[in-house]
Amino acid sequence: MIDLRSDTTTQPTPGMREAIANAVVGDEQEREDPTVLELERRVAAFLGQEEAVFVPTATMANQIALRILTRPGDELLAEENSHVFLYEQGGPAVFSGLVMRGLPGHHGKIAPEQIRAAMRDWSSGHMPITRLVSIENTHNSSGGRVWTLAEIDGVAATARELDLRLHLDGARIVNAATALGVPPAEIGRRSDTVTLCLSKGLGCPLGALVAGSEELMVAARRAKHLFGGAMRQAGMVAAAGVYALDHHVERIADDHARARRLGEAWAGAGLPVDLEQIETNFVFLDVGPLGITTAEASARLADAGVQLSDTVHPTILRAVTHLDISDDDVERASELVPQALGAARVTA
Ligand SMILES: Cc1ncc(COP(=O)(O)O)c(C=O)c1O
Repeated sequence: MIDLRSDTTTQPTPGMREAIANAVVGDEQEREDPTVLELERRVAAFLGQEEAVFVPTATMANQIALRILTRPGDELLAEENSHVFLYEQGGPAVFSGLVMRGLPGHHGKIAPEQIRAAMRDWSSGHMPITRLVSIENTHNSSGGRVWTLAEIDGVAATARELDLRLHLDGARIVNAATALGVPPAEIGRRSDTVTLCLSKGLGCPLGALVAGSEELMVAARRAKHLFGGAMRQAGMVAAAGVYALDHHVERIADDHARARRLGEAWAGAGLPVDLEQIETNFVFLDVGPLGITTAEASARLADAGVQLSDTVHPTILRAVTHLDISDDDVERASELVPQALGAARVTA
């Protein structure tokens, strides 16, 4: 089976397993785990922030950030299909008491004017206080689209001017940095807080970090404990993160090249693929024009030995390249998918 469902499906490599086996560990809750401390130090620099806090998942990293930047009843602005709005079970409302206001995006991105227009006039005492903007780079549900530095700067300047805080869900910030040709710190330093996920393109079994100023990270450590994320010998997992920073950052460019090859092959075979969408490691395949549902398409593909996954868009399946997808897998999927879906049947 060629598993293109997500970059979260990877197996730890032999080298990563060795790093895990040899990890020097201690009580992380007491800040006595040297491997966690090393990972936190390295990731803070990697993301251009003063300090980073290691947590089990990117969802927890996001939720901690949203909590420490707001007070209950405050309003959070984010693109309407962003991960914090769609896939975290209303966490901003549950954990932080936030009013969640989704704004329509273009390729997952919102514009400074939209933020300005969305600001509530709370001077009369009736309205929630618009407090926080959250952006996502790369943006998952738009197909791994990238915010440029100029686009982030536009939003960040407007947020500063309006006294709003800015969070970056950078679960895939390494993909964004690779696409832009800049170090992740160039992106990560532009917001108050930033999330990095270790279990996507970086290929770790689990783990994420939230980063920000020293002052904010004091609050983040408290929230981490509150959320049940303070761990013990967590260096067993952090060792994979340290290993990934050394071995899995440069190779993200290979994932992007493979996604492009896959998209070009499918488009060349007549499948409805918008090549402009492929900026990183996602390929969107619209089965609507083929006259079949995504469920039907997925079943046919599974029979052919290829797995894709659903998206928030009813007719679109996605393929995501990652550490466990080789050039050979790409060659095979380039042929198998058009065959399975009968590309000749494209009607639009
Ligand atoms: C953009 C984005 N943010 C956050 C997350 C949450 O990651 P996790 O599943 O590790 O909590 C994901 C996972 O797919 C994601 O795509």
